Amino acid sequence: MKVFVTGHRGYIGVHLVDLLRAAGHQVTGCDLGLFDGCEWETPVRPQRELRKDVRDVTERDLDGIDCVMHLAAISNDPMGNVNPEITHSINRDGSVHLARMAKAAGAGRFLFAGSCSVYGAGQKLDLEEGDPLNPLTAYAQSKIESEALIGELADAGFTPAYLRNATAYGHSPMLRIDLVVNNLLGSALAYGEIRIQSDGTPWRPLIHCRDIARAFVAFMNAPKDRIHNRAINVGGNSENYQVRDVATQVERLVPSAKISFTGEVGNDPRNYRVKFDLLNRLLPDFKLQYTLASGMDELHRAMVDHRFGKADFEGEQFVRLRTLKKRLDRIGVGV
Ligand SMILES: NC(=O)c1ccc[n+]([C@@H]2O[C@H](COP(=O)([O-])OP(=O)(O)OC[C@H]3O[C@@H](n4cnc5c(N)ncnc54)[C@H](O)[C@@H]3O)[C@@H](O)[C@H]2O)c1
Repeated sequence: MKVFVTGHRGYIGVHLVDLLRAAGHQVTGCDLGLFDGCEWETPVRPQRELRKDVRDVTERDLDGIDCVMHLAAISNDPMGNVNPEITHSINRDGSVHLARMAKAAGAGRFLFAGSCSVYGAGQKLDLEEGDPLNPLTAYAQSKIESEALIGELADAGFTPAYLRNATAYGHSPMLRIDLVVNNLLGSALAYGEIRIQSDGTPWRPLIHCRDIARAFVAFMNAPKDRIHNRAINVGGNSENYQVRDVATQVERLVPSAKISFTGEVGNDPRNYRVKFDLLNRLLPDFKLQYTLASGMDELHRAMVDHRFGKADFEGEQFVRLRTLKKRLDRIGVGV
């Protein structure tokens, strides 16, 4: 198949290119390169690469494409607080523009990287797709509005689907440490301290970043009627954890590290446990390859090999917001 992957140079995107190429697909990547130079390891490249803003993609760029996998986004809650307009412009307006172009070009399938953060502070803990959404950030709001607006384009020839992904963690050639699991492991290795920013009680659904990439491939291969214009939670029922459970896993890997509560975010209002029954029912052959424990073992080994330390933790390379702030001009924000 001919697949167009946006955000293919990001944390999840590099896994996706690797999986698609290994399965023999023709991959076009489209990425603005906001994190070029932040590579931890050398990523696999697609056969064709566009260095382009998704807001500028044309019908012609998508000529002959069978499936669009749309991951490019400002993938960061704090950035949405710094500049909500740019989050809406790229994450919502850019997504709708790309979907329109994809439909006009005759791409039959459009897979959108959504997020479980749309549930925000849930009214109840075990959230399903039909439950009320409660976005707490511009980022989450942009994902909700994108689902609705792209949905208006669905018809017999155009099948969008929305992967509401759990919070990612784990090893990637484009490592991020601004995600809770990677952050706690990083702080243990950098300081001998597991620095928990909340009180440790909030629930989060977690998923290895390579499993998210595998889900995209599964959605591409799924029968159309299973996924047509549906929002589907992507993760595993047994992979919901409290932040303090993550800290326990870090202690197992770095026994010398001590847990500390920095209280930076007080009572973190983002608290949600998510159910993945719909995914299990619609795509029964799709199984997660990682549990939190196995994914953390792998990341820990890689961090030790790379001698991950204080300079890595405090630098820009692995923290999206720090790099973005330096490169705002690339996304049309004056600096
Ligand atoms: N990481 C997570 O925990 C998580 C969870 C749920 C959903 N998601 C979603 O998955 C997607 C990928 O996340 P990630 O963690 O790989 O993010 P990332 O920040 O590592 O990668 C995003 C990529 O998109 C590119 N990009 C940003 N704006 C662009 C634009 N206007 N035009 C072209 N390229 C642009 C960046 O250069 C970057 O390479 C995002 O849509 C994110 O919202 C991520």
